[in-house]
Amino acid sequence: MSARPRGPKDALLGLGLAREFRARPLQLATHLARTYGDLVYFRMGPLRAYLVNEPELIHEVLSTRHKHFRRPEFVAGPLRAIDGNGLVLSEGDYWRRQRRLVQPAFATGRFEAYAQVTVEYTRRMLDGWQSGQSIDAAEAMTRLTLEIIAKTLFGVEVEGQTERLGEAVRIVSETVVREAGYPWHLPDWLPLASKRRKRWAIRTLDDMAWRVLRQRRASGGDRGDLLSMLLLAVDNDGDGRGMTDQQARDEAITLFNAGHDSTAAALAWTWYLVARHPEIEARLIDEADAVLSGRAATYGDVARLPYAEMVVKESMRLYPPTWMLFPREVVSSVELGGYTIPPRAWIYIFPWVTHRDARFFPDPDAFDPERFAPTRIDEIPPFAYIPFGGGPRACIGAGFATMEMVLILATVLQRFRLRLAADQGVVEPEPLISIRPKGGLRVSLEHRRQPAVADKDRSGGTSDPR
Ligand code: HEM
Repeated sequence: MSARPRGPKDALLGLGLAREFRARPLQLATHLARTYGDLVYFRMGPLRAYLVNEPELIHEVLSTRHKHFRRPEFVAGPLRAIDGNGLVLSEGDYWRRQRRLVQPAFATGRFEAYAQVTVEYTRRMLDGWQSGQSIDAAEAMTRLTLEIIAKTLFGVEVEGQTERLGEAVRIVSETVVREAGYPWHLPDWLPLASKRRKRWAIRTLDDMAWRVLRQRRASGGDRGDLLSMLLLAVDNDGDGRGMTDQQARDEAITLFNAGHDSTAAALAWTWYLVARHPEIEARLIDEADAVLSGRAATYGDVARLPYAEMVVKESMRLYPPTWMLFPREVVSSVELGGYTIPPRAWIYIFPWVTHRDARFFPDPDAFDPERFAPTRIDEIPPFAYIPFGGGPRACIGAGFATMEMVLILATVLQRFRLRLAADQGVVEPEPLISIRPKGGLRVSLEHRRQPAVADKDRSGGTSDPR
């Protein structure tokens, strides 16, 4: 057996591949997987890289052998300036402790309140929509999920600040993606326009986090939001202590950043796919009308909207917001697929690639929510569908995000249909921190007639105008 898996040769010592990886990562990874198979070896300059494309092997990397890997500091570095040592970036025993402390904030017991915020904010957004109007659905979803995470996390209304916070998060995401793609990093203090923007963005998010945190420490108590949980959490299984302010700040900012961009991206793609499949839209509408009868949805309804959940899952199969998992750096040699992978090599896993592999998803380009029907879901091999990653470092917000997306989908469809706008050209995916419709997603809004009965007692809201 050869010492390394098959892979492309690059006469420029891998510099050509590195450039290609930066410019067209989705196409490159797809090409490598389809040409060289389940485990691909390639060089990018000095870096020895492996692309893993097979569920069993992915399972080993993410779960059984996860202790052999860490986040490469080279990629983590640009994000550390804002996330500090929050959950996304921390490692080892420190990560394990923090994960224990943050987990209770995502216990389903808290979801009733988070669901209420989600539905209330969605309905507020819809109050501002008019039939015939054309909007950028991707931008609308970003605003909405930003407002929802600010309220559920910090308990603050960011209405007047949505633009500023949204801009700060956007700058941070863009900068992180750009900086992580280059083989060198310039220090953040340099008087360059891009660094000035980054410093402004970090300051803006930092100021908000510290202001809310200090107020909350001063007032104490459980306000029902995620931040209260972070501040009240005590590590009963470990050192018996809670978080310092700095730790709470890092986790709060991490959740704020991780907690809305990917959800917004998934929703944007869902609207795109639903707009192109009227029969699926009709089924979604039937479900929402039958379950909700015109009233506002609650957390209890999520389980009664299984088709909406199937649609969201299938949308994340075709357009996984996290199109590439965080690269893993090998810390101690590890066996994988019959090969020994040496220390310092990097492992890449692309949900984008496995989700479109015909071996695991027959007719992979077809948008078919039935794949996730209870009778068929077992046909998908474990670790072939990984929109939230897997193993111990799987997304902590998966349940939260799924609940949020299902409720938003049903609530919007109670009142509106979204149609691709006449001036919306071909929609192309752009792999930023989350994968997004390049240039936005222009849709026109079509008000729909509601079937009667608005249960005002439960909704506390109004029925729709006819
Ligand atoms: C559709 C929405 C979302 C998607 C697709 C998504 C995707 C992911 C993925 C793939 C990972 C693992 C990355 C890896 O292993 O390399 C991850 C981790 C994480 N996500 Fe999410 N996420 C979503 C929503 C959320 C939300 C709503 C929150 C919090 C409010 C959140 C917080 C986190 C955190 C803190 C981690 C790091 C966990 C750890 O390493 O212990 N995510 N997410």
